[in-house]
This record gives sequence, C-alpha cells and structure tokens, in this order.
Amino acid sequence: MLDLILADTELELVPEELASHPSIVKNAKKRGKSPSKILLDISLHRSAFGDSPEVERRGRPDIPYIVLALCLDSIANAERKLTTLIHTRNDELIEISPRLRLPKRYNRFVGLMEDLFEKGAVPEGKPLLTITRNMTLEKVIEKCSPETTICLSPDGEPGDLIPLFNEVKKPFTCIIGGFPEGDYTSPAKELSDRVVSISPHLLKVWTVASNILVSYEQSEKTYK
Ligand SMILES: C[S@@+](CC[C@H](N)C(=O)[O-])C[C@H]1O[C@@H](n2cnc3c(N)ncnc32)[C@H](O)[C@@H]1O
Repeated sequence: MLDLILADTELELVPEELASHPSIVKNAKKRGKSPSKILLDISLHRSAFGDSPEVERRGRPDIPYIVLALCLDSIANAERKLTTLIHTRNDELIEISPRLRLPKRYNRFVGLMEDLFEKGAVPEGKPLLTITRNMTLEKVIEKCSPETTICLSPDGEPGDLIPLFNEVKKPFTCIIGGFPEGDYTSPAKELSDRVVSISPHLLKVWTVASNILVSYEQSEKTYK
C-alpha cells in the first residue's frame, strides 16, 4: 500500500483579512456566495495581495485538482493500493475515498471543495470527502502509520524511484509539497526516513506525482 500525502497544500477559503478586497467581493457576488465561503484562487484574486511575495505561493486549488485527477485515475487506485491525502497550509486533513469521481470541470471541483469546507463531509449521507481540522503533518503521518516515509524534495539525495520502492519497508508513505514556490512549512523532511530528489530540475507538483504513481505501478507489477 502507498499513502500519497500532498503536504502544505495551498488550498484555503478566502482568509478574513482579504475578504473585503474589491476583487474578492466582486468575484463572490458574481457567484452568489459570501466572500469568506469561496476558495482563494490567485488566478482571480491576485490584486488582493498587492506587492506581497505571498502572491507567488497562495491560492492554488488547481494543484490538488490536477494531482487528484492523476491519483484517482491511476492503476494503483483502480487496484485499491493507493490512498490519497491532502494536508493543507492550515493543518486540515482532507481524506478522499478511492471511489470519488472527480468533477470533469475545474469550476465544479472548486464548488465541491467550498461545500467540503462548509459542511465537513460531502456528499451528505455517504461522504466521499471529509475534512478534519488541527491535523499537523506529523499527525497525518501517524494516522498512515507507515514503515517508511519518503519526502520528495529538489534538495534531497538523488534517487530512482523504482529501485527505492522495491527496497523500502512497506507500507510506505510519499510526501509531495502541494505548493508552487518556497519550501515545506511543515517539518516534512525531519519527519521522513528518506528525502529524495528525482531530477536536477525543479519540477511541477503533478510531474512528481505522476512519476511516483508510475514507479509504484512498475515496482508492484501485478498485471502480467
Ligand atoms: C513546485 S515544488 C516547490 C518548489 C520549491 N522551491 C521547493 O524547493 O520544493 C513543489 C514540490 O514538488 C516536488 N518537487 C519538485 N521538484 C522536485 C525534484 N526535482 N525532486 C523531487 N521532488 C520535487 C517537491 O515535493 C516540492 O515540495
């Protein structure tokens, strides 16, 4: 089994201090929602950050959307050997059922996440997504109780994933940063047994996720 944690993910509702900015008020009004109940999305709310360097980092719900699309449609997920978890910048844990059918349209995904933040679990009745507050990355890893934790980082030791996955004690957990810039804010490296770089290039989050998924499928090779 592989647990894949997207850590410090830049997924959040509009924070109180930005909720009265005109760009956010306008966007919320257009969507018929209150400003504090919409997702922060830098592609729409850039001007709310002024010249703050945070503009390069925050409000990236597209990152978990693309990573979830890869994970939920993967062979490992079809074989029920994968658990995908999202840990957010505000220490929330989003647990995702492997049976979740991700909305094909990004704007529907945004609405789904907003419902999740408001209700705590969606869909009502038989939830496929749940959110738990006060879940530090340490607690998320504890919940997975892996034999080995691998943190993916461009600063790590160079490594090939297939031999690494063959060699490590199972079950294992891989951590990828769910942010576009900067480093982990949680102590992801300190909490891991191995910190691994898969390329001298700084890769996009979804490129790293797809490498993990394919390498895991190759290392398991259950389908001949
Ligand atoms: C786009 S990067 C964030 C960039 C950031 N400057 C950093 O140093 O991690 C987001 C995540 O992608 C993963 N990543 C990017 N390039 C990588 C590489 N060459 N090897 C391993 N992981 C990588 C890491 O998990 C990283 O936290």
